[in-house]
Amino acid sequence: MIDEIARLTEDAERGAAAASGLDDLQAVETSLLGKKGAVSGIKRQLGGLDEDDRKRIGRALHEAQQQVQSILTARRDELSSAARRESLASERMDLTEVRPGHDAGHLHLVTQVIEELEDVFVGLGFTVAEGPEVEDDWHNFTALNFGEHHPARDMQDTFFVALGGPREVVMRTHTSPVQIRVMTDQPPPIYSIMPGRVFRNEATDSTHLAVFHQLECLVVDEGITFGHLAGTIEAFIHAFMGEEYSIRLRPSYFPFTEPSAELDVQRPDGSWLELGGCGMVHPNVLSNCGIDPERWSGFAFGFGLDRLALARYGVADLREVMSTDIRFLSQF
Ligand code: DAH
Repeated sequence: MIDEIARLTEDAERGAAAASGLDDLQAVETSLLGKKGAVSGIKRQLGGLDEDDRKRIGRALHEAQQQVQSILTARRDELSSAARRESLASERMDLTEVRPGHDAGHLHLVTQVIEELEDVFVGLGFTVAEGPEVEDDWHNFTALNFGEHHPARDMQDTFFVALGGPREVVMRTHTSPVQIRVMTDQPPPIYSIMPGRVFRNEATDSTHLAVFHQLECLVVDEGITFGHLAGTIEAFIHAFMGEEYSIRLRPSYFPFTEPSAELDVQRPDGSWLELGGCGMVHPNVLSNCGIDPERWSGFAFGFGLDRLALARYGVADLREVMSTDIRFLSQF
């Protein structure tokens, strides 16, 4: 019996080495450890031994069984990682294919517009900043002077994220929270733009998307006035859209600016495009960021990039921004 027991580990080694796949290995395991396998066979013979032999041989069998187990497990690990490597290799997709006669693609219209606007503003002496798309209540609302129960919070239909306490974490509803990040990260003077993706819980139609892009502009310096605001907007609209476009500011309300205005752009045909909002940075907002409103003043504006991008090409329906139709995309 001792010989039979010694053969168990030899058989396990040999069988494991010879197995070329997980099925082969399973067969080896069944033949050694299965109900009708070699180990069970030896166990059955133990009953016929006297007590001392039974203990001695039982112990040897137990050890051998454990060795067999670990030989098989090691081989199983080897075989399954090989199998995984093989399936990864066989399922690999070549995404680099180039169809002859078709160009290999280009940046999306909105990405092109963001890059162009960055160039315009960098040319005017601005820096470009970014913030996270998942924001906390402080940056998205509270630091921007939205009172806790202020109805202005409802102006922005918010997607809440199940993180932290209730309503504590949001998908940012605008790029204005990046103003807060910029002002708390660096002392004035500040001349920055902040492009990015924003999220609103609202139905999609020809003038609204639930996921869209905004560009935020913030200036904080000594002696900044509403004239600087109007002049900067006009300069960038002329640079980006052309001299034949003009702007209009209409009195409005935003909690983070005072006074606030709505920003419209007039097309050469005389029609108006509602682009975004603007105003003088509210003193509370400056204080919330540790900036002394007695010394510094600032202006800010923010607008929908997708609208501006489409307006430039005379596309009427905002939903086209989401189009995957190559005939639409390849026009830009
Ligand atoms: N964040 C506002 C919105 O999404 C737009 C806006 C208004 C941005 C006034 C500004 C501003 O910077 O000063 O509706």
